[in-house]
Amino acid sequence: MALTAGEVPVATALEELIRFDAPLQLFERTATSDVEVAGALVRSGEVVACLMGSANRDAAVFGDDPRTGADAFDVSRDPNPHVGFGLGRHFCLGAPLARVELEITVRRLLERFPGVTPAAAPPRRPTWVLRGLESLDVHLA
Ligand code: HEM
Repeated sequence: MALTAGEVPVATALEELIRFDAPLQLFERTATSDVEVAGALVRSGEVVACLMGSANRDAAVFGDDPRTGADAFDVSRDPNPHVGFGLGRHFCLGAPLARVELEITVRRLLERFPGVTPAAAPPRRPTWVLRGLESLDVHLA
């Protein structure tokens, strides 16, 4: 199934893009009291890094099938319980806006340039908390 062929809703594909290559790879939490997390004691004042990019590739959630599992890019994945926008009390306040902006941008791009393809492997920014591309050159024909 392909996004460019209109076989997959843009909104569905966007969720997989955010899962597969999480723009925010990790965030930190500081314990305000002693707390046990998954059998490990975190003492008050200690900092814990939560690796959302890793959680988004959790085979226990997404499976390990090479074609559809955690490490596969499945553009039609639905449902897609990723944590690319975080989870719980601090779930991304801007998620609805980000989703609308992305959907409109990608839909308009595909409407105008249905044959759009990458021109080359895009260079990545030299960062790993906020992940992304330095640039993305495309052929529009
Ligand atoms: C694809 C785009 C975006 C991604 C992947 C993203 C991801 C995230 C994640 C993972 C968190 C949770 C951080 C944590 O728990 O410490 C977060 C929080 C937040 N995001 Fe986003 N975000 C995006 C776009 C936006 C936009 C467009 C806005 C505002 C217009 C926004 C505003 C916020 C705010 C205010 C919080 C803090 C919420 C809180 O702590 O209660 N985000 N975001």
